[in-house]
Amino acid sequence: MPKSLSLFIFENLKRRKKIKRASLPQDSFYLRKMKEGDLPYILEIENVSFPNPWREMTFRGEIYNQPISFPFVIVYKPHKKVIGYIVFWQIKERMQINNIAIHPDYRRMGIAEAVLQQVLSEVRMGGTKFITLEVRPSNIAARTLYNKLGFDVMGIKENYYHDPPEPALVMGKKL
Ligand SMILES: CC(C)(COP(=O)(O)OP(=O)(O)OC[C@H]1O[C@@H](n2cnc3c(N)ncnc32)[C@H](O)[C@@H]1OP(=O)(O)O)[C@@H](O)C(=O)NCCC(=O)NCCS
Repeated sequence: MPKSLSLFIFENLKRRKKIKRASLPQDSFYLRKMKEGDLPYILEIENVSFPNPWREMTFRGEIYNQPISFPFVIVYKPHKKVIGYIVFWQIKERMQINNIAIHPDYRRMGIAEAVLQQVLSEVRMGGTKFITLEVRPSNIAARTLYNKLGFDVMGIKENYYHDPPEPALVMGKKL
């Protein structure tokens, strides 16, 4: 995965004037492959992020679901802390984003946007032509983020989510 991710996030944060240049070194964040040792930190984020969170075995399955699944964690380097993750599948020319979450303390800093932009740019270079994802209609933060990145609603899957029950919006983007 791209070495430029931390710089990309840093530039994004700086642009938003949410940090001062001196307060956050350029290499503060990086993206790396998810491993089993990350699972306690991931589950902590997952459990506060979703009403119906993934279980440990689901994340473990993704770690070993090669070569289809690409699970990555976002690490805040000064604290060596996992502050988020993204899990996507790549099958031929299609990519499916299956999960993305940022720790509540690190939200609204541009991190998810930077990670997605960078990942999309990487997979585009790798030949991916179309990206899809599912989102709860009530998840305004995620929907706004995906809209900002150019995703459109393509359809609805009824009875998709449980606890609370909700359909899923299927969103897609051509690369
Ligand atoms: C959705 C989520 C990943 C966004 O992560 P984030 O790092 O806070 O998002 P960013 O700071 O990169 O936000 C980028 C843009 O998304 C939109 N956005 C993000 N959070 C938002 C919120 N709470 N309300 C409205 N818009 C929001 C904004 O357009 C924002 O740009 P702006 O700050 O310039 O207005 C995060 O809120 C999260 O982890 N939520 C719980 C898990 C989840 O719902 N995942 C998505 C499943 S489909």
